Amino acid sequence: MTGRKRHIFAFGGGKGGIGKSFLSANIAASISQMGYRTGLIDLDLGGANQHTFFGIDRPHKTIDDFIEHRTRNFSDILIDVPGYDIMLGAGIQNDLKATNFNAGQKARLFSAIKSLDFDYIIIDIGAGMSISTLDTFNIAPNGVLITYPEPTALENCYKFLKSAFLRELRGKVKEKELKELVDNIYDGKIIIPAGIKIVDYFNSVYSELAGTAIAVMNHHNYYFILNNASEEDMELLEHIPYAIRRFYGFGIIPLGALANDEKIRESIRKMRPYIEIFPDSPTTQKIREIASNIVNISESLCYD
Ligand SMILES: Nc1ncnc2c1ncn2[C@@H]1O[C@H](COP(=O)(O)OP(=O)(O)OP(=O)(O)O)[C@@H](O)[C@H]1O
Ligand SMILES: [Mg+2]
Repeated sequence: MTGRKRHIFAFGGGKGGIGKSFLSANIAASISQMGYRTGLIDLDLGGANQHTFFGIDRPHKTIDDFIEHRTRNFSDILIDVPGYDIMLGAGIQNDLKATNFNAGQKARLFSAIKSLDFDYIIIDIGAGMSISTLDTFNIAPNGVLITYPEPTALENCYKFLKSAFLRELRGKVKEKELKELVDNIYDGKIIIPAGIKIVDYFNSVYSELAGTAIAVMNHHNYYFILNNASEEDMELLEHIPYAIRRFYGFGIIPLGALANDEKIRESIRKMRPYIEIFPDSPTTQKIREIASNIVNISESLCYD
């Protein structure tokens, strides 16, 4: 292991089809073109498609080979992405087994990813809020939340953040009683009154939990990308992180917003990164801006 500083970013958001994979592929491509060694890990196990974004038809090695112990080292399943300084940890499609991996397999996989030797590690997360999806999102110190501007997507986005937070908090709490309490909030059996931040709620009712909750929050940096936004929606880029900070207490940094762009579909059909085939489009400019924001923020942060 070298002394390389690794920056791990997970791209999630709860809802399906909101651009998580498209954005993680193109942002990874953009970061690699800025001169950083980049690892792109497809953790949408069961619905993996990162290889397709780069024109790799059938990856000959996949994360499943590591999970199923067919390879010993995670680095052995990484494949070179042609034309980019990116190593891809590809997933496979339609393998339901992979989505239900057990705790031991999960721990081995996550620890292998966290010790990969890249400048930037970009993780594409699947849709939904299953335990495995939340756990994969939580392995990254940097969580990027992506949403469309529709109220349903926004709702899912906040719910996803809250669920990921509660899932991690539950793992940090030792006492059975407190675990049950976190479970009850997670399941909606206990509703935190509107307008009260989670940590303030713990402080007033179960103060033992407040310190752990703050430690969990401080363990992550959260970011926000608004996708498929019209001109009128653009103000949501600042407004949503503000509202989530103000009402729920999670600090979130806006990274940028993308407009609706039919050429995105075309790039996916052609199985090439969008930034490569439409280098001069406003969407490419936005993607590059978001990638620069990620790099600039990472360089200014100090974390282990
Ligand atoms: N800004 C946009 N304008 C137009 N189409 C878009 C935009 N962003 C994404 N799309 C389209 O949305 C579709 C889904 O994108 P993508 O696969 O990246 O979503 P996802 O969140 O990863 O989905 P899943 O949850 O299934 O993994 C793609 O076909 C893409 O063309
Ligand atoms: Mg996806």
